[in-house]
Amino acid sequence: MKAKIRVNKNNVIGNIDRRLYGSFIEHLGRAVYNGIYEPDHNTADELGFRKDVIELVRELKVPVVRYPGGNFVSGYNWEDGIGDRTKRPKKLELAWLSVESNQVGVDEFQEWAKRADTEVMMAVNLGTRGPDEARNLVEYCNSSTDTYYANLRRKNGFDKPFGFKLWCLGNEMDGWWQICSKTAEEYARVATEAAKVIKWVDPSVELVACGSSDPHMPTFGTWETTVLQHTYDYIDYLSLHCYYGNREGDTMNFLARAEDMDRFIKTTAAICDKVKAEKNSEKTINLSFDEWNVWYRTKDEEKDMEHWQEAPHLLEEKYNFEDALLVGCMLSTLQNNCDRVKIGCLAQLVNVIAPIMTEENGKVWKQTIFYPYMYASAFGNGATLKADTECDGYKSKEGWDIPYLCASVVDNKEKGELVVFATNRSLTEDMELDIDSCGFDSCKLVKHIELYNDDIDAKNNSENENVSPAERQISDTSPVILKKHSWNMLVYKY
Ligand code: AHR
Repeated sequence: MKAKIRVNKNNVIGNIDRRLYGSFIEHLGRAVYNGIYEPDHNTADELGFRKDVIELVRELKVPVVRYPGGNFVSGYNWEDGIGDRTKRPKKLELAWLSVESNQVGVDEFQEWAKRADTEVMMAVNLGTRGPDEARNLVEYCNSSTDTYYANLRRKNGFDKPFGFKLWCLGNEMDGWWQICSKTAEEYARVATEAAKVIKWVDPSVELVACGSSDPHMPTFGTWETTVLQHTYDYIDYLSLHCYYGNREGDTMNFLARAEDMDRFIKTTAAICDKVKAEKNSEKTINLSFDEWNVWYRTKDEEKDMEHWQEAPHLLEEKYNFEDALLVGCMLSTLQNNCDRVKIGCLAQLVNVIAPIMTEENGKVWKQTIFYPYMYASAFGNGATLKADTECDGYKSKEGWDIPYLCASVVDNKEKGELVVFATNRSLTEDMELDIDSCGFDSCKLVKHIELYNDDIDAKNNSENENVSPAERQISDTSPVILKKHSWNMLVYKY
């Protein structure tokens, strides 16, 4: 099969905000406890954080990590996780029916973030709590005043404010599963009031209001409209969340989910602009896609899990090669929408639906999805160019036209590089790819990274990395070949 990508140097979609490649750590399962934090592990630092895990997080170059939830945040008392660790309460955690020891809280997490070379995107509890606790938390984290919560932080050993710039106003408040979920009107009011007091405490922060938990929620659209009508002047971003799965075992349709994500983004952006027009506002609300990934297997497997365990094995999805292909396509979708999506969080980072897995007292290893994420974060910096693709395609179950080639092209002016991310979704045919790069005098292919396995169901584990990238030989005379069902990164120097 032949395919072509046409790009024009001047046909720019937008500049990529580095935060597009963010991730997420929730107090859930083994993400924190026995994940990033395992004090008895032989690589643990003086705070109990695993250095081998930190090393892999740094390899991913994660610019921002959302914390502490997720569903968890809607029942969380942040004060339980600060100060003397021996005095912290052990509590029932209702989002995941677990036990929370509170040995890690905001004090420790901001230390971990520094070590992992990332920023914290902090969420406040708008489920069981509200604006009062939220503004106190912002004071604790960000204020340099001589006042109670700022002084409490000092007393706990942190003279300098943490300086968190990005804050989420609750989590998935439209979902029945959320602790103290709300109607759009109820959420819109509390989010507005929380936003006001947070910005009065620290006007420099940016705020994310909850959009829909999924594009297929019955309230999708009306939720966004109501929330924006109330919060518009106080917030900066609206959130989107989405997880995909292949329950039917239909790979082609599964790989078409990137199109669903694209439609979700474009519809949400259109709603933001509709409210902007209604309000005759100068301000544009951008998007924070702060939970996205593949997640389906463990949803069924965990139904009978014993409750009230500390650090239970929850949401430990074992990713196969096909999942890595969709993650690659979703990353291209995010890049292709970088004019509106400024923040993205691959959910999550360690053990829980994660690219990084750990064994207790043992190894750390990379799941299949680690690689497209790592390369996008490392090489997908600059401006996304509009990629016009020409190639054969197929129909999704909705009847959408899906090209076999899913691509994004990033112009990194600083490095003089044109970086093409390209997934061949065909299960049977290799693809001969031609790039027509208009406006670039000379473009020379210098690197071709390929993620391929003959078995679409191949998985990695702590012993074997069955799915890992290979650098392909570059030839001046033969065309670029994207193998059947493969993810690729092509770097051209100009
Ligand atoms: O990431 C796992 C969970 O998925 C999060 O806690 C929640 O926000 C979403 O439903």
